[in-house]
Amino acid sequence: MTRDIPGPGGSWLLGNLADFRAGMLPFFERCRRDYGTVVALRLGPRRLILLSDPSLIEEVLVTKNKSFKKHFATRLLKPVLGNGLLLSEGNQWLRQRRLVQPAFSRRFTDEFVQIVRLHTSRLADTWRQNPRRELYHDMTQLTVQIAAHAFLGISDAKDTEEIGACLEVTHADFERRFQQPWSLPTWIPTAPNRRLHRAVQSLTSIIDRMIDERRKDADGRHDALSLLLRAEDEQGERMPIQLLRDEVMTLLLAGHDTTANGLTWTWSLLAQHDGVMSRLRDELRHAKSETHPRDEASFARKIVKESMRLFPPVFVFGREAISAMNLGDYPIQKGDSILMPQWVVHRDAQFFPDPLAFDPDRWTTEFERELPKYAYFPFGGGPRVCIGKEVAMVEATGVLAALASEFDVSLEDPAGLTPWPTVTLRPKGPVWAHIRRRNGSVTTSRIERQTGSDV
Ligand code: HEM
Repeated sequence: MTRDIPGPGGSWLLGNLADFRAGMLPFFERCRRDYGTVVALRLGPRRLILLSDPSLIEEVLVTKNKSFKKHFATRLLKPVLGNGLLLSEGNQWLRQRRLVQPAFSRRFTDEFVQIVRLHTSRLADTWRQNPRRELYHDMTQLTVQIAAHAFLGISDAKDTEEIGACLEVTHADFERRFQQPWSLPTWIPTAPNRRLHRAVQSLTSIIDRMIDERRKDADGRHDALSLLLRAEDEQGERMPIQLLRDEVMTLLLAGHDTTANGLTWTWSLLAQHDGVMSRLRDELRHAKSETHPRDEASFARKIVKESMRLFPPVFVFGREAISAMNLGDYPIQKGDSILMPQWVVHRDAQFFPDPLAFDPDRWTTEFERELPKYAYFPFGGGPRVCIGKEVAMVEATGVLAALASEFDVSLEDPAGLTPWPTVTLRPKGPVWAHIRRRNGSVTTSRIERQTGSDV
């Protein structure tokens, strides 16, 4: 017995395009409220199914994952990410995942903690000198510096700046094409396309230079590029150069903007919740700085988790059915796009009592045990779960810990803070904040001196 999938209808030609454009987040919320957890939508000829039921999301990501491929919107990233992990499919994806996964070992993460600390302490110096800050900008710069250092082994400021500027161009281009899917293909030499090509070329030439350097001397290095250069599959084969480039590009792109958004939302929430901030400080006073970012039970982690519940950096993601099937009792046709909105599921009162409250304490072991697995999925799930999941948690927790122990943050315009859903969930417009040093704080410079800055 199959069930019809309800939905809001729409224009005969464009379907629900106007609803999407009027505001994706409120539209998703309205669909959930008025039609339930499985809702049929349309964009032109394409049928979309908005899925907010954790057990059906698990079917898509885990039990029936082989019946799906990546969603058409994700493929907009192809001109930049090529066949890197985020976009590849089937056996090519599996082979690459097996080659890349070992790079994110315990050893890598240990070194990563030091890299996070080093760059955060530099940001702390800037905060001391100039206390009026734009948080989204600061968090983006910081995550670019960390990504360039950890993934490519770059600590040179000029290269890092260049990488940051190019990533900004590629990101703006994704946003443009995400909002205007009918944009001309990237091979047509329009002004935006030429700008994109220049940015990709520039990134590629930095990556190629680093590949050459690491080829001559990768021994003892633990940046992701050096590890990927040495990685071999079961036949003893190494990654072809183009795939190596695609993977490094994927790590840079997938690994900085998501974390920067997560951190910006976390600061914005902390700035509005003094009680949570002072509890965090109490914990930091007693925590061992070496192990703290990896401590899964820490209050800092609970803060990051709760912030990604309310403001998931990836607020929706999708799959495309490659064959007809049922999800639960609902018939899915070949070619249907399945959208899984973290934004909606993470705010469902059925799973999260008082869902709009920022309450890091809800994340007890018992609460997590009882929570349906896909009621909280900021990093996706199943075989294609985010490969940088642990790295992102360590980074967010490490940055938070290093800065919160020294500074108070207050927003200039908390009421003006609005989520802006593009490829990721960013704040709309700048997030201006005042930074104040606390008396008796442990400065991050001292932490840097203790741990050394020679990573
Ligand atoms: C808060 C930060 C992050 C969030 C919220 C996030 C979220 C996600 C999500 C939802 C997916 C699944 C996409 C899908 O199934 O279609 C994903 C995949 C991926 N992420 Fe992340 N991510 C974060 C940080 C990172 C970092 C730091 C890295 C790099 C170290 C990274 C690299 C990747 C890659 C390579 C994939 C594709 C994995 C595959 O398909 O095998 N991400 N991420």
